[in-house]
Amino acid sequence: MCETSLPDDLLDWYDAHARVLPWRVGPDERRSGTVPAPYHVWLSEIMLQQTTVAAVKAYFLKFTTLWPTITDLANAEDDRVMGEWAGLGYYARARNLLKCARVVANDLGGVFPEAREDLLKLPGIGPYTASAIAAIAFDRPETVVDGNVERVMARLHAVSTPLPTAKPELTELAEALTPSVRPGDYAQAVMDLGATICTPRNPACGICPWVSGCAARAQGIQATLPAKEPKKAKPIRHGIAYLARREDGAWLLERRPDKGLLGGMLGWPGSDWGDTVTEAPPLAADWRDPNTEVRHTFTHFHLRLSLRTVTVAVDARPERGQFIARHDFRPSDLPTVMRKAYDLVAASLIDS
Ligand code: ADE
Repeated sequence: MCETSLPDDLLDWYDAHARVLPWRVGPDERRSGTVPAPYHVWLSEIMLQQTTVAAVKAYFLKFTTLWPTITDLANAEDDRVMGEWAGLGYYARARNLLKCARVVANDLGGVFPEAREDLLKLPGIGPYTASAIAAIAFDRPETVVDGNVERVMARLHAVSTPLPTAKPELTELAEALTPSVRPGDYAQAVMDLGATICTPRNPACGICPWVSGCAARAQGIQATLPAKEPKKAKPIRHGIAYLARREDGAWLLERRPDKGLLGGMLGWPGSDWGDTVTEAPPLAADWRDPNTEVRHTFTHFHLRLSLRTVTVAVDARPERGQFIARHDFRPSDLPTVMRKAYDLVAASLIDS
């Protein structure tokens, strides 16, 4: 008897159940000869690093509406791009996005290289993204291993070694399965399987195309995999942010240095963030303490940000930052932590 292979079973499932995503060329379109725009694949993969598909959709549509080609993006103003990225987090991604767009547009004639090793030379493109672009945009047989794929491999092969130790083993297992036919669809199919069926909790094994080959399912241990090494507790840091509104409606803002956390983003002037804090007002004024704090979690720490507010006269001269006129200020340009501060106190300042 001739059994079909795991990749074939998965591709059949993908043909029927592929998610419809704004950056994706689905299996039917691909079959009829449509190829994905490398610009779209690259942009989506950068946005999808550490951010959910649901959150990325609107950003992807906005970016591709504002900047339909990589040359348009390369020619955009840095501040405009950082503003549109606000809320997606991991702002080094946006700075590298612009660098990469400019290399491709200015040095490579607007054409992305196809080979993984050439993609790896571009700013912001690491091993994961290089494989994803090579596979999805250029249908090269590269293996794409994200968290979804690690979970699927850990279950399919009942790998009980915890993550992250298990990463190299799971990568090898994923590589061994990658087919030479339709590698781009296959890469997206494994991701879709992990996102929609082989989910972290309550995997839907009853409708999984790989159920009969799944070693974890055979042992009844699928829900316990992948095992994870215990995470280190995150420390708590404290800081103060100063929200000054001028009587004419302008806000005092400061662009953060390119290097470091929230690099290149607009924010409220503030103190350093540490175990303890000292006041660091950007201008001498009668600051109010609204007795509320912003809580925000970054990759390596939790932040508790105390707030200070004031309304000042139009001739106020700050020591740090710049007043931005009411009509030029868009709260949506702020990174999430700064936006939270605005949402907590802006109304009271505007009404006062
Ligand atoms: N996560 C990362 N890349 C993805 C893609 N191309 N499709 C769906 N989910 C993803």
